[in-house]
Amino acid sequence: MLFRNLRDELDATLARDPAARSRLEVVLCYPGFHALLFHRLAHWLWQHGLLLAGRFVSHIGRMATGIEIHPGARIGKRLFIDHGMGVVIGETAEIGDDCTLYQGVTLGGTSLDRDQKRHPTLGNGVIVSVHAQVLGPFRVGDGARIGAQAVVLSEVPDGATMVGIPAKPVARRRDSGESQPAFQPYALGPEIPDPIVRALSGLLDEVTSLRARLAEIEKSERPRSSTAERAPEVQRGNGACDKERAA
Ligand SMILES: CC(C)(COP(=O)(O)OP(=O)(O)OC[C@H]1O[C@@H](n2cnc3c(N)ncnc32)[C@H](O)[C@@H]1OP(=O)(O)O)[C@@H](O)C(=O)NCCC(=O)NCCS
Repeated sequence: MLFRNLRDELDATLARDPAARSRLEVVLCYPGFHALLFHRLAHWLWQHGLLLAGRFVSHIGRMATGIEIHPGARIGKRLFIDHGMGVVIGETAEIGDDCTLYQGVTLGGTSLDRDQKRHPTLGNGVIVSVHAQVLGPFRVGDGARIGAQAVVLSEVPDGATMVGIPAKPVARRRDSGESQPAFQPYALGPEIPDPIVRALSGLLDEVTSLRARLAEIEKSERPRSSTAERAPEVQRGNGACDKERAA
């Protein structure tokens, strides 16, 4: 059926965008979801030989959403295109299940050969960050993450994180050794808490070190203050002696 499993697409958006609050909101306000609806129709027309009609539906979808998906592109389940504006997905591109694309992403070609595959193939669970360009007919492995603004020009291994121009694999700054959560576009792993938690734990560290410092100061002040406490007694004692002496 042309529009089957739409609930899965809606739930994928809810799961991967903290700003999404309900399925109705996704249906009404998410251009990525609208683009998928246009693409399903355009792709169906394309597969049934109605090439111009497919291109036309794709073009209407582009006008409505700012997302250009060629009707020949093959898209797996639960694709989430966040924000969407400026996304371009070429004719021979293939996208696996559970992938995420952000605004300004291009899955483009580097050749003009009409009879060849020209565009990339994304595996399952791939994240392509904002304004990244993936150019050429190679594979991007399952679970790979393409960093913001990266330009990827060659095959990407499963699970790799690629950044830069041309993109190169990069290791995380901090690696806890724990298994990473399935979806982490914002580089928020278990070892990198969110900003509020980070601020709070910074404050707690500060309080702990201030307490330690205070304890040290109190300790070093104690002998002096005990002398100060004894001083009046000494004076009083002297006074008594004086009085005694006077008597
Ligand atoms: C790719 C990404 C997921 C990497 O996250 P990560 O694995 O936690 O990586 P780290 O933050 O530990 O960075 C590792 C190294 O890569 C560098 N790096 C990370 N992202 C980079 C990027 N997009 N371009 C260039 N270098 C980048 C870091 O500076 C660091 O280098 P260093 O070790 O020399 O300091 C993340 O940086 C990213 O680009 N996320 C994009 C999110 C996005 O598109 N959001 C859109 C919301 S609308």
